[in-house]
Amino acid sequence: MITKYTHGKPVPTEAVTAVLPSQSPDSFPFACEWENGKFRFTFPMADGDIVYGLGEAPRGINKRGWVYESYCSDDPFHTETKSSLYAAHNFILLSGSRTFGVFVDFPARVRWDIGYTKADTAVITIDGADFDIYVLTDGAPRDIIRAFRRAIGKSYLPPLWAFGYQQSRWSYPDAATVDSVIEGHNAAGIPLDCVYLDIDYMERYKDFTVNADAFPDFAAYVKEKRAQGIHLIPIIDAGVKKEDGYSVYEEGRANGYFCKKEDGSDFEAGVWPGMCRFPDFLNPEVRRWFGEKYKTLTDCGIDGFWNDMNEPALFYSAEGIEKALDEAASLKGENLDLSRFFHLKDVFMGLSNAQEDYARIYHNIGGTLVNHQRVHNLYGASMTKAAGEYFQRAFGEGKILMFSRASYIGAHRSAGIWFGDNHSWWSHILLNLKMLPAANMCGFLYCGADLGGFNENATRDLVLRFLALGVFTPLMRNHAALGTRDQEGYRFENPADFRDVVQVRYRLVPYLYDTFVKARENDDLIFRPLSLDYPDDKIARECETQLMLGEECMIAPVYEQNVSGRTVYLPEDMTFVKLSGERVTKQPLAKGLHYIDVALNEVPLFIKKGKSIPLCRPAMRTGELDLSSVETLCS
Ligand code: GLC
Repeated sequence: MITKYTHGKPVPTEAVTAVLPSQSPDSFPFACEWENGKFRFTFPMADGDIVYGLGEAPRGINKRGWVYESYCSDDPFHTETKSSLYAAHNFILLSGSRTFGVFVDFPARVRWDIGYTKADTAVITIDGADFDIYVLTDGAPRDIIRAFRRAIGKSYLPPLWAFGYQQSRWSYPDAATVDSVIEGHNAAGIPLDCVYLDIDYMERYKDFTVNADAFPDFAAYVKEKRAQGIHLIPIIDAGVKKEDGYSVYEEGRANGYFCKKEDGSDFEAGVWPGMCRFPDFLNPEVRRWFGEKYKTLTDCGIDGFWNDMNEPALFYSAEGIEKALDEAASLKGENLDLSRFFHLKDVFMGLSNAQEDYARIYHNIGGTLVNHQRVHNLYGASMTKAAGEYFQRAFGEGKILMFSRASYIGAHRSAGIWFGDNHSWWSHILLNLKMLPAANMCGFLYCGADLGGFNENATRDLVLRFLALGVFTPLMRNHAALGTRDQEGYRFENPADFRDVVQVRYRLVPYLYDTFVKARENDDLIFRPLSLDYPDDKIARECETQLMLGEECMIAPVYEQNVSGRTVYLPEDMTFVKLSGERVTKQPLAKGLHYIDVALNEVPLFIKKGKSIPLCRPAMRTGELDLSSVETLCS
């Protein structure tokens, strides 16, 4: 059962598609209070209760013991002490002594103190007075998740080729480099479906332009790559370069399509191209206009995109720079003591994504100017919606690959997400794993992390272990930052190991695609914490390093360096399968703890007793998969 409680006049977020009557907050089932214009509600948590949810967020599958904040943030350090990442996914589920779900539909800040201040109490603080809260009760945790997912509408459906292996880097700046990446994979026998075009494919970082020196005949080039079975996936950034004569800028300015400042002038801030203006995606007319711009690229044969910097990320504003430079000038020649030096340092470090700058932004919502801070978490989601609405109009469902960095629940109907700028850290394999079921609960089925890690240098073994998890994630993309060590599989010694791992993905594409479609149709999860399936099993309930996949499997990636395997917990008898290229080894294992050996070129998988999954022969492209070669891999 879902009950909707409304207070004030909420900004429409379109997160929930089900039409539900609003109850007065007087009958709200949790203890609540108002403080300084903020609404706060609390509920007790018994020992052993688990709190799931919050989608793309730091820390564990069980969110207890930390404080989270829904505030889409461009933060490339995903350490466990952070409270926010790029998304605002305001759904939680308590399971244990009681079972219920809560969705806070509110697009500004929400603070989730899940036992941080008091271990046995959850305190949720909403930074405003206009919101809807949905409370879901009755049924097992999975029933509640399904009811929530039904209420928020069907998840985005990607094309089948989006389940192929994808290679990215900031950047492959020109056709010759893209060709060398494809050739590198071909020569090493590593299957590949997509190559990414990061910001350098554009002409001076201007959205919907292509650098003609780097790609002299872009449409012909895209066509040539498609003939080789490769999709090129360009990035689109939220900020539009301020440049006279640049049509997107000129049209946006002439029509009043950019976000404003309080005085009605356009808001500006610096991003990759220097000064930018920011389309007011919260306005449907602007969405329509911006969405149509993707046509520039789809007309060239492009059928996949990633939307970035849409929290929105702001490197600096003229106001911020001026203040910082004044501050620096006033200190010139001074002997800076501790407090004055660190103050100066903080002034410059605080230039990016400054709260003062966000507070300067205004949106036009139904003719009313609304301050950005009231709707911050809708910005990236609305950019994605702009593109999604256009793709739906122009191509229908399931034709275009798209995922976004910033998101809010509701955007799951238009696109997938990737988990942003992670690091080449071993701990980020597990962070990736823990986000998967939480993202699924919030509707984001097509998702994945930068495999191998984005920031800093990766090692060969890290990339292989990361890929062995990525084999199962709908988005399987290897991506790395500018200036970091090359991490395409063929760049490392013995690339055959990378071939063996990526081939496993291709062997599993029929199964993974089918599992995806079923989860979408049934408003269900692809990835589940073990605790959802084995609620009475203490070890399963506390397990944060393994996941159930579909109805048939369990996954348990190796996540540490210099180990030959890992300890795994089987909540029931299962068959341990090791897949490597075309090789399959099987070993029945009894319920309980086991140490499993897994070589760097092997992908571990567990199949439940009595279950089986399809396995096809590998191919270099998803389009070349021979479905008549499908055999059954039985437990
Ligand atoms: C952002 C994105 C990253 C991309 C980079 C350059 O940091 O998150 O994926 O490579 O911008 O466009």
